[in-house]
Amino acid sequence: YLWIGLLMLLSYFLGSIPSGLVIGKVFKNVDIRHYGSKNTGATNAIRVLGFRYGIFAFIFDALKGALVIMLVFFIGDTSLYLVSQYQINISSIYGMAAVLGHVFPIYINFKGGKAVATSAGMIFAIEPWLAVAVIVIFLIVFFTTRYVSLSSTIAASSALIYFIIRVFLDVHEFNLATRIMDLCVVAVLGTLIFIRHKANYKRLQLGTEYKFVPKNNKTK
Ligand code: G3P
Repeated sequence: YLWIGLLMLLSYFLGSIPSGLVIGKVFKNVDIRHYGSKNTGATNAIRVLGFRYGIFAFIFDALKGALVIMLVFFIGDTSLYLVSQYQINISSIYGMAAVLGHVFPIYINFKGGKAVATSAGMIFAIEPWLAVAVIVIFLIVFFTTRYVSLSSTIAASSALIYFIIRVFLDVHEFNLATRIMDLCVVAVLGTLIFIRHKANYKRLQLGTEYKFVPKNNKTK
């Protein structure tokens, strides 16, 4: 349990690194919390700093969700436990801890991002093909509507639906506990994503949500 606690703490501290904010300050001397949606996440980093800088915030934010899961995967089955006759792999909780760090970062007064990129990284680490499918869904909605918040919400909902179906489709009952565990984690993250996008939904309703327009790397 000590090991689990330490890895969760490590994930939380890693997740807390506000990459968009750091990249903005270091490379452009800009605090992205004062511009655009005022969010510290990758979308606002792209919006405020431009694609060339902002994309690194996305990559780093996604890595935060994937890194510890990949680490425990490579160092061995440290996250595998037996619960009666079921085997359970608890590694997704490290991804969850990283997302919690991203949303409530200890270094900047617990005011962080909207959970999307870091959750995507976590999903990539546990179900890479699902992550690819979710990114495709995201891009389809994005290129149709140009609303990142809407694309994120639909992508997150599709991931949640997949994890629900995955529990029922499990033919290897041995894995059932892991699948239920992953579903719980994804449900928590999905809820967090919906809650964090409240202001975006309001703007969407009012027709005032930010749209990304492909004009010389600029957004409006
Ligand atoms: O990933 C966050 C995105 O869905 C919305 O970000 O900055 O437009 O509120 P933002």
